[in-house]
Amino acid sequence: DSLINIAIDGPAGAGKSTVARLAASKLHMIYIDTGAMYRAVTWKVLSTGLAAHQIEEIAQLAETTEIALEPSEDGQKVFVDGVEVTEQIREPYISQKVSHIAKIPSVRNRLTSLQKQMAIHKGVIMDGRDIGTHVLPDAELKIYLTASVEARAKRRYEELKAKSHEVPYEQIVKEIAERDHTDETREVSPLRQAEDAVVLDTTGLPIEAVVHRIIALAESRM
Ligand code: C5P
Repeated sequence: DSLINIAIDGPAGAGKSTVARLAASKLHMIYIDTGAMYRAVTWKVLSTGLAAHQIEEIAQLAETTEIALEPSEDGQKVFVDGVEVTEQIREPYISQKVSHIAKIPSVRNRLTSLQKQMAIHKGVIMDGRDIGTHVLPDAELKIYLTASVEARAKRRYEELKAKSHEVPYEQIVKEIAERDHTDETREVSPLRQAEDAVVLDTTGLPIEAVVHRIIALAESRM
């Protein structure tokens, strides 16, 4: 078998991280959640007291911030300047701001180059919004994972509820739709399906079925 890279892109809540994590573990590949990196920068920006419009200051901050991902049993741990922020970056106040920080070109440049480095030796499953289109345009397998807004909102609702963040379902639908819009309409590397991506619609599909399909596709390209 030869080493390959797998890119998984798609809108918020399509199940990318769950699916990517399970497939990585079965395929003995390294899972990299790039959304966590944008969330980590957003966490730093907000805890520094900066607002999303302070582009110059944010560019400076993105350059000097150290972001590290470390594999763990249930995914990965995230560190900003050596401080673990794995839980904090999932808070709703981060989700509400992250796409506005992620559209800043200097932030994207910095994180994209880190991500390219992480995949240089192959054997990586990376999930995000622009992996197949910009970060790993030569990935051996590209998946575009999608689902209806309602199915995605329901999944987020259950996830948050399990962590006792009770957010009204209607509010989640609204926030997901807004985030999709910001991600799809930004100027630099917007969320878009790569031409050579395999599209999987996960609406109503059990996670296991999606993982199974990805593993079969991956094995056919090794
Ligand atoms: O994947 P997750 O929902 O955690 O990503 C959070 C946000 O980070 C996305 O809504 C998007 O704005 C940004 N992002 C991005 N490019 C990526 C991964 C995430 O712009 N490759």
